[in-house]
Amino acid sequence: MPLVDPRNRIIDYLRVSVTDRCNLSCAYCKPRSGMRLLSHGDVLRYEEIHRLVTVAATLGISHVRITGGEPLVRRDLLPFLASLRPVPGITDISITTNGLLLEEMAEGLRDAGICRLNISLDSLKPARFAGITGSDEWGRVWRGIEKAETCGFAPIKINMVPVRGVNDDEIVDFARLTLDRQFHVRFIELMPIGAHDRWDTDSCVSSEEARRAIEEVLGPLEPASDATGAGPARNFRLAGGRGVIGFISPITKHFCESCRRLRLTADGRIRPCLLSDTEIDVKSPMRGGCGDEELVRLLQLALQVKPERHYLAEAPGACFERTMSKIGG
Ligand code: GTP
Ligand code: 5AD
Repeated sequence: MPLVDPRNRIIDYLRVSVTDRCNLSCAYCKPRSGMRLLSHGDVLRYEEIHRLVTVAATLGISHVRITGGEPLVRRDLLPFLASLRPVPGITDISITTNGLLLEEMAEGLRDAGICRLNISLDSLKPARFAGITGSDEWGRVWRGIEKAETCGFAPIKINMVPVRGVNDDEIVDFARLTLDRQFHVRFIELMPIGAHDRWDTDSCVSSEEARRAIEEVLGPLEPASDATGAGPARNFRLAGGRGVIGFISPITKHFCESCRRLRLTADGRIRPCLLSDTEIDVKSPMRGGCGDEELVRLLQLALQVKPERHYLAEAPGACFERTMSKIGG
């Protein structure tokens, strides 16, 4: 039986943030003012996450995406991932990473049963990467991507958030990567979450603008209906291109009516919508000794309170309690 919310959306995709820590400091993800990290005791233990995933799978969750912060920095991640593979009902386990630790972990991720990798990369220029992330290790990320390729991950999705005046002049270079590699390069509209003290409406480069920039130089994009994933991207190909170009447009074309997701935060709250602070605490009940039927009730409650849609375009000044780095995107 699938999980269906009151608006008839089938919910089968759980994004699990395993840590709020990250080994990068991207300008659009963390606030300028810095942020307080969770203490270890506040973070869900792996057994607790495993239990929640197992219960969610009995209700109809089949896809799990592991996020952070940066998920690869959490200790003993690989055995935890391997422990999710046999959970009945879970058919797809994927991960979103910044790629810094990928070179050494790609093989382990593959062996742990990770099917798909999404890698965040906002510049192909090492010096600019350093400006955006605070790290001079662009080369390490690129080697990680290449290692993932040789390990056989497919698809490898590269997430690029174009920010006006920062890296929007690289949109075409990113698109060009799909000409001779099988990457899925996705352009994501900047959302005012996480670093609202740095964000202004003009910083967001719309998917339409990105598309125009690509087509002007590289020619028309053709729909790639075969590349449709579980996520919100609209996918295209360049003529003769091996890879896919995707657009994720939360601002100009929200995809809330087809949203399939719930999120579990690192501190044990179910967040029914990325862009709403409504959350349901599952950590306290679990630590208080609740039975699985209570977790079922809380997951169903999350569906009841899942918002119909977000209003970012109408209320661009919206401000959220959590940073993106604390939700995992
Ligand atoms: P797959 O299609 O399974 O590969 O996943 P995905 O594209 O959802 O995952 P990824 O972690 O790569 O996220 C890409 C971007 O989409 C991030 O910027 C997310 O914040 C954004 N995104 C994912 N889900 C949602 C959502 O429910 N609402 C909004 N507004 N943005 C989302
Ligand atoms: N707007 C849009 N995407 C963002 N991401 C992080 N912060 C933002 C934001 N403010 C992206 C990252 C990562 C994905 C999980 O979310 O680039 O690839």
